[in-house]
Amino acid sequence: MVDAVGVSLLGAGNVGGGVITALAGARERHAGHVGRALELRFALVRDANRDREGIPRDRLTTDIEAILSDPQTQIVVELMGGEQPAFDYITRALTSGRHVVTANKEVMAKRGAELLSTAAAHGVRLLYEASVGGGIPIISPLSRDLLANEITSVTAIINGTTNYMLTAMSKQGADYSEVLAEAQRLGYAEPDPTADVDGIDAAYKLAILCGLAFHVEVLPEDVTRQGISRLTARDILYASELGYTIKLLATGRLVDGELVATVAPTLVASGEPLAKVDGVLNAIQIEADLVGRVVFEGPGAGSAPTASAVLADVLDVARDLVAGRVERPEPARRRVRVRPPEEHRSRFYIRVTVADQAGVLARIAGALGEHEVSIASMIQFEADADERTAELVFTTHLAGGGALSTAIEQIGSMDVVREVGAVLPMTGLGAR
Ligand SMILES: NC(=O)c1ccc[n+]([C@@H]2O[C@H](COP(=O)([O-])OP(=O)(O)OC[C@H]3O[C@@H](n4cnc5c(N)ncnc54)[C@H](OP(=O)(O)O)[C@@H]3O)[C@@H](O)[C@H]2O)c1
Repeated sequence: MVDAVGVSLLGAGNVGGGVITALAGARERHAGHVGRALELRFALVRDANRDREGIPRDRLTTDIEAILSDPQTQIVVELMGGEQPAFDYITRALTSGRHVVTANKEVMAKRGAELLSTAAAHGVRLLYEASVGGGIPIISPLSRDLLANEITSVTAIINGTTNYMLTAMSKQGADYSEVLAEAQRLGYAEPDPTADVDGIDAAYKLAILCGLAFHVEVLPEDVTRQGISRLTARDILYASELGYTIKLLATGRLVDGELVATVAPTLVASGEPLAKVDGVLNAIQIEADLVGRVVFEGPGAGSAPTASAVLADVLDVARDLVAGRVERPEPARRRVRVRPPEEHRSRFYIRVTVADQAGVLARIAGALGEHEVSIASMIQFEADADERTAELVFTTHLAGGGALSTAIEQIGSMDVVREVGAVLPMTGLGAR
């Protein structure tokens, strides 16, 4: 009997549980793919006294040494999350000659370059398909299938929680706090939703995607970020009347060799494929010189879909191990200038609450014009008779972020302006 390929897990929670179940349920099929059986060795957890389905108690450990000193563990699968201790454990696994598979977007976005170079230095592989888009294959297509292309843009919906919330706001006409409470009740949002609603999670994933797509070094702080918590049901309604759907869009482009990376609630024209991606689904749209446009869509989270991506990496490494092929470093990356938001160009949606009196519109239009922000359309959506206020919605032609924010500052300080409620980018030709 030929030796099995030993696999140990760091973490046996939501995703780890899915991996354990999927490994047990397809033993023979996996052995057929690899040429040897995959054997689950140990799982590292915080609480080893709690029973976990599919793995005996004596295979649970709270000590990373139990895994690092196990000669039969050849592949370590990190499914704990967070930067530390995940970074240290992955580093130790790689330096001890183990191949590593991870689903951890935070550690890959913040420390991926160091980890990949540690892997290369030790002749082992570090794979991270599940770190972006859950079950959607995207890391492998960017690393392999699209490598012959020059990729011009990455546009993605990569946070299921916020996409669920924005879809609910749009379908039910409900406000942000209502849908957040509902998402938390259904388990789609964490008790502390900050990482999702502030776009932090999406920024981690976008940093990973931009690094791979453009072969550049990107960190999460290179991503300009705006969350969804200030959006109102009115913005969703007004956008829809203008022919747009609001999505938390993660966008990356290389413009004249400089990186433009943003996560922001964005008006997406209703006819575009990403406008139709609803609920907890994710989608990643790639534009490239040879292939044109491709869209990858599917479940961006969940135990079984994420296990699908994790096990794809495990099977890939195991097949290489059996075939005696191991080292496959990623193409080199270069550091490029990151454009600050003042230098981004986009079309914009602007909602302003004003005193309902003559001449207000002209003053706002004048302030925009003075800063060379050209108005594409203006609609007065409603007036509150009691408050004697009106709500004006402008859309602009392409404008520079710096010029726009100076104009918005000027508009916000006008005595007739009660509030600049929302300033959101819009998809459209020429954004950069
Ligand atoms: N959930 C998804 O749908 C999804 C999708 C894509 C990617 N991911 C990524 O997959 C990873 C795991 O997510 P998850 O949802 O499975 O998380 P989870 O349910 O919270 O599970 C985390 C597991 O790691 C263990 N753990 C955490 N910190 C530890 C430590 N310091 N020492 C030892 N064990 C530790 C926990 O042990 P105990 O069980 O004893 O607490 C638990 O088994 C994260 O990086 C996440 O971003 C998740």
